[in-house]
Amino acid sequence: MSLWYFLLIVKTDFSIDNQTIMARVILDQLRKSFDQQEIVKGISLDIHDGEFVVFVGPSGCGKTTVLRMIAGLETPTQGKIQIGDSVVNDIPPKDRDIAMVFQNYALYPHMNVFDNLSFGLKMRQMPKNEINTRVQTVAQTLGLSELLQRKPKQLSGGQRQRVALGRAIVRNPKVFLMDEPLSNLDAKLRVQMRLEITELHQRLKTTTLYVTHDQVEAMTMGQRIVVFHQGVIQQVDVPLTIYNQPANLFVAGFMGQMNCLQTDLSAANQVGSQAGSIEIQAVQDDRASVFSIPLPATGNITMAIRPEHVLLNPSQADSLAVSVMPQRIETLGSETWIHGHWSVCGQSQPVLWRVPSEVNPTVGERFHFWIEARHLLWFDTNTGLRIR
Ligand SMILES: Nc1ncnc2c1ncn2[C@@H]1O[C@H](COP(=O)(O)OP(=O)(O)O)[C@@H](O)[C@H]1O
Ligand SMILES: [Mg+2]
Repeated sequence: MSLWYFLLIVKTDFSIDNQTIMARVILDQLRKSFDQQEIVKGISLDIHDGEFVVFVGPSGCGKTTVLRMIAGLETPTQGKIQIGDSVVNDIPPKDRDIAMVFQNYALYPHMNVFDNLSFGLKMRQMPKNEINTRVQTVAQTLGLSELLQRKPKQLSGGQRQRVALGRAIVRNPKVFLMDEPLSNLDAKLRVQMRLEITELHQRLKTTTLYVTHDQVEAMTMGQRIVVFHQGVIQQVDVPLTIYNQPANLFVAGFMGQMNCLQTDLSAANQVGSQAGSIEIQAVQDDRASVFSIPLPATGNITMAIRPEHVLLNPSQADSLAVSVMPQRIETLGSETWIHGHWSVCGQSQPVLWRVPSEVNPTVGERFHFWIEARHLLWFDTNTGLRIR
């Protein structure tokens, strides 16, 4: 009798809230080629214990391939993968102690929610009581308790996504790999699930590698962001550093909107110079603004500024007066977008400025404002690298 009681206590002690299992993930010079074509080009990354890292990049840049290599579903052409203290290159997927959530959910259509959640545990021959406890706990956490008898086709998109998440959580793995898990949801549900996943991570603290092509998801969910392009890591940092100090023009343009204006610093375009800088003009019809470019800089330099860095009053000491002729105006309600062109070094280039919705710009009527010099970023146009 007392033994049964003891067993029951042990069996029901499983609590996903007390989970402490987690592991670092280290990628060392990881490469992957398909048919002689290199898709992942030597990436190295150290993901800490319990960290939530977002891998972001455009479609086709190799994100899924990296996740599949970590999961053991693809064999690296070269390089090492370490999970916890072990190199796992030669360890089969089922023994890596990771759980993957796929974009298309990959639920078993003929099984109900309970069986979908418990399938992986049954395959591992876990005792029935423990399976039951784990499934109930996870179902409660994800608001699925009332739906355990339903088949996937009787669920909404958001509910299906929760089942897919639940199937990963119930395994209690060392690492979660999530491949664009929210892409198939509508915009509103995506925002809600984004918060739920973040909260879940705060509770479970399981190391998570989350893949997305959506920069808003990356900014809002990632403790650190890895920006990926054409099989190469472009920058790894915390969200605000990625946004405010992008390493190169690709990161600058991919993570949010950016006005990028190419300049040619040949002598003909210089209007002056100061110690440590040279000056060029940005012209819009009769109005010119002078920009000071930090040296060392020669040749083709791209000047960049975020569209929201608009000052309506010249309150800052280093503010520069600029203007734009609005060609198209978009009213979003929360703010207003002004589209126009700037002419820099004789080249007309498109710009976008975002202003509060109380500001009422008119197409064809010059809009005057200020920008702060500290918000200007400078890039070498040829290499794309930011000039520090
Ligand atoms: N099994 C495969 N065989 C051949 N090419 C593949 C295979 N898997 C992926 N690729 C190619 O590798 C590139 C990167 O794919 P993927 O990792 O799915 O990118 P992402 O997830 O960033 O959109 C794509 O060009 C894709 O066609
Ligand atoms: Mg993919």
